[in-house]
Amino acid sequence: MPYTLKVFESEEAFDRAAAEWVAARVRPGAVLGFATGNTPVGMYRQLAALHRRGEISFAAVRTFNLDEYVGLDPADPRSYAAYMREHLFRWVDIAPDAWHIPSGAAPDPEEEAARYDRLYWELGPVDAQVLGIGGNGHIGFNEPGTPFDKTTHVVELTWQTRLANAGPFGSPEAVPARAITLGIRNIMEAREILLLAKGAAKAEAIRRALREEPGPGVPASVLQLHPKVTIYLDQEAAGGVV
Ligand code: PGA
Repeated sequence: MPYTLKVFESEEAFDRAAAEWVAARVRPGAVLGFATGNTPVGMYRQLAALHRRGEISFAAVRTFNLDEYVGLDPADPRSYAAYMREHLFRWVDIAPDAWHIPSGAAPDPEEEAARYDRLYWELGPVDAQVLGIGGNGHIGFNEPGTPFDKTTHVVELTWQTRLANAGPFGSPEAVPARAITLGIRNIMEAREILLLAKGAAKAEAIRRALREEPGPGVPASVLQLHPKVTIYLDQEAAGGVV
């Protein structure tokens, strides 16, 4: 498997390295694939700092996010659209129409997934995709069992995912039951991928993704089939592989 793996001793070094990986790919015309969640928050902070220091400009890039909850308006602070504004877009010079994320407010989520998929193939595929990983091995919201050839679709979130994401919602029951996600097929089209994982809760998913035969039971295992993957882990997430 042709991947590069680095384990970081401090969160600061991890976040900086992730931001530098992205920054090296921020160039006019680039299409970047972004992820949400707790893991990349520090990476976005570092990217905003690089922009503030005049070292990078997002003026001529376009971005695609992986996923969004069905039923949340982009203005809802718990939406991933709000997450991206809060953690990155309000701090940098990206054009308002240059970033893309499925709309959780679309009246017909299936139609919205189809629209987002068309847009992805029109403007993409992405040059550089940042990914987190779920404790169950999901990438984007492609939950275990998702066929590798799936494109953008509406997904029923697993209880494990709703539990893991309960924070801003107060309880797992309050986490939207469905989401729209780029499919594994879209993700695999990216020219380069950066997979990020922090914390012991990710160690087993990382171990299975890298050590088991690729298969839909562990969606991230598909990355073994991608030609250009970089993996950044903290020491806890690396527990099963180093
Ligand atoms: P996290 O989510 O960064 O909040 O752990 C990652 C994921 O579920 O893909």
